[in-house]
Amino acid sequence: MRSILFVCLGNICRSPTAEGVFRTKAEQAGLTEQLFIDSAGTSAYHVGEEPDLRSQQEALAHGYNLSYIRSRKVELEDFEKFDLIIAMDQSNLTNLKLLNSNGYNSKLKLFLKDYAADLKITDVPDPYYGGAKGFSHVVKLIEQASDGLIHTLQKELST
Ligand code: 4NP
Repeated sequence: MRSILFVCLGNICRSPTAEGVFRTKAEQAGLTEQLFIDSAGTSAYHVGEEPDLRSQQEALAHGYNLSYIRSRKVELEDFEKFDLIIAMDQSNLTNLKLLNSNGYNSKLKLFLKDYAADLKITDVPDPYYGGAKGFSHVVKLIEQASDGLIHTLQKELST
């Protein structure tokens, strides 16, 4: 069993997209019974809200449903509860490190750097203040890193 938390700033664009894309890919790979998947934000700006409609529409166009997700803020218990805490960008990772004073640093990952190294990009760019292109770019980056994460987990869970 592995528990995985995807983290961005608002938990309405990038991390819910990562949750939905990764959940679908995990289902397709037959891994969901061995995984607990969630997402959260480092801010409380949008707590209780559904994902941004632009993210929902872009994800749905690629076959990923995000409509069940509601924004929540990262909690201190998350550092204990989750095996992997995966930040969407370096600023989220810094914020997680500031929150987490209890030595859980080995659980903290940077999504593109750790699971899509070929991209040679470290951050999933924040699409919130931009146009539609940003949202489709986010889905493509997240699909690639989700494939990398599935591959890593398949190796770990089979040994
Ligand atoms: P996210 O995008 O971190 O990918 O959910 C954002 C959503 C909201 C804001 C910033 C980024 N905001 O400033 O309200």
